[in-house]
Amino acid sequence: MNTSAVLNYLDSQFDASVERLSDWLRIPSVSTDPAFKPDCRRAAQWLADDLQSMGFTASLRDTKGHPVVFAHHPGPEGYDGPHLLFYGHYDVQPPDPLELWDSPPFDPAIVEGPHGKRLVARGAVDDKGQVMTFVEACRAWNKAGGGVPCRITCVIEGEEECGSVNMHEFLEQARPEIVGRDAPGSPCDFAVVSDTGMWDVNTPAITYSLRGLVYLEVFLHGPSRDLHSGLYGGCVPNPINELARIIGLLHDGDRRITLPGFYDDVLPLTKQEREAWAELDFDEKEFLGEAGLSQGYGEKGYSLLERQWGRPTCDVNGIKGGYIGQGAKTVISSSASAKISFRLVPNQDPKKIAAAFRKWIESQLAPGCRVEVVDHGIGRPCLTPIDHPAMAAARAALKQAMGRDAVLMRSGGSIPIVEGFKSILGLETLLIGFGLNDDRVHSPNEKFELACFRNGQRSHAVLLNRLAGLKRG
Ligand code: BES
Ligand code: MN
Ligand code: MN
Repeated sequence: MNTSAVLNYLDSQFDASVERLSDWLRIPSVSTDPAFKPDCRRAAQWLADDLQSMGFTASLRDTKGHPVVFAHHPGPEGYDGPHLLFYGHYDVQPPDPLELWDSPPFDPAIVEGPHGKRLVARGAVDDKGQVMTFVEACRAWNKAGGGVPCRITCVIEGEEECGSVNMHEFLEQARPEIVGRDAPGSPCDFAVVSDTGMWDVNTPAITYSLRGLVYLEVFLHGPSRDLHSGLYGGCVPNPINELARIIGLLHDGDRRITLPGFYDDVLPLTKQEREAWAELDFDEKEFLGEAGLSQGYGEKGYSLLERQWGRPTCDVNGIKGGYIGQGAKTVISSSASAKISFRLVPNQDPKKIAAAFRKWIESQLAPGCRVEVVDHGIGRPCLTPIDHPAMAAARAALKQAMGRDAVLMRSGGSIPIVEGFKSILGLETLLIGFGLNDDRVHSPNEKFELACFRNGQRSHAVLLNRLAGLKRG
C-alpha cells in the first residue's frame, strides 16, 4: 500500500523523532521512588497527549500506583482486520549511582559510538525509546500513509520496573474494553511488545519466551541484641554465619538448585531448540569479555545461551548485616538479611516456588534462629507458540524493514505482565525489541543506538500494515 511513503516520511522526520524522544526522556519517571510520583504522571500525560494528537482516544487510568496510559485507535473506516494490543512502560529504573554517568541521566546526550550515534539517558532503550519506535510508526502512517492502518489499543504502564504489581487488577478491570463485547470495534487478537533486544545491531529478533521471577527478602533473627563475639561467639547462633550457610546450600557442586521440587515443572529444552541455538554461533567470549570475564559459569551440561534463555536460576541480589564501618568491631549481629531472586522458565509456578522456599528455609534453621520471608513480587514465565500467524507476519515485516531474517530467540529477562495477557485476556504476545546486549539497561550510561531507533520505527511501520492484512482468527 503506502508503506514506502511512510518509510520515506520516517526517514525525513528522523531528527524530529529523536527530539521528541529526548523531551520524554527529560521527565524522570522513576517508579520505585515516591519522590518522583508527579514526574511519573507527567510522563504518562506526555504520551497520552502525543497519542491523542494522532487520532487515538487517550486517557490516564488511575491505579493504586502510577497511572496507565490507555489509548485506542479504531483503524481505517470499515476495518475488519485484527485488533492489536500494544504494551510498553514509561517508568524507568533509578539512575543511581549518579557519579558513574558521563552525562546527567535525564539530560539526553547524543554520543558517537562504533555503530554511529547513540542517545544516552535513563530509559533510552528501557523502555521509552522502544515505545516511541511504535508511536513514530503510527505518526508516520497518520501523516503520510492515509491513516493508522489497523485497530490498536495501547496499554503503557508506569510500574513495570517495580514488578507491575497493579497490572493484574488493571487488566481485569479493563478486560471488557480490550477483549470483551464492549471493546471498541472488535476484541483484541494479540499483543505486541517492544521491550526486549535484537540479535545484533544488524539482525532483528523475535523473542518467544521470557523468564519469570520470584523475588524474596529473607530476614534471619538470632540473639535479641548485638553481642560481644569473644564472650558469645561459638555459644550462640550468628545470623550472618547461618544465613551464609543456608545461601551456600542453595546450589550443589554442579550449580544446580537444591530447593526440593524446584525443577519439577521445568519444561525441558527440546532437541530442536538446542540445535537451533547452537547454530546461532553465539559469541560467548565477547559476551563474557564485555562483562570483564573470560570463563563460562553456570549449571553443568548447558551452554551459555541455554543457561540464559532456558534454565532457571537463583541469585542473591543483596546481603546485609553486622558491622561494615571502618576498622574492626568484634560483634555478633542480632540479625542478617538477603534479597534472593529466582528466574523461572516455563512451566514453573512462582507461587509454588516461593512456598517451597519458605518451607525449606524453616527446615534449615539452626536452633535459636527465626526467619521472616517477605515477598517482593512475582512474574510468571511466558511462551508464545512460534507457529502463531502473527509471528509469520512479524518475520516478514522485519525482513522487509531490515533486510535480514529475524532470529527466533528467548530472553533471560522478565516482563511480569506478559503472561497476564494470556491468562487474563487470552492473548498471545509478539515480543519484538530493538535493544542490544551492550545498552547498559538499568546501569549508568544506558543508551539506545539511533540505528536501532530507526530500524524499530521502520519495522513497526511495516508490521502495522502486515498485521492489518491478517485474517481475524
Ligand atoms: N525490559 C526489561 C526486561 C528485558 C530486558 C527483557 C532485556 C529482555 C531483554 C524490563 O524492563 C525489566 O527490567 N524487567 C525486570 C522485571 C522486574 C523489575 C520485575 C527484570 O527482568 O529484572
Ligand atoms: Mn523494560
Ligand atoms: Mn527494565
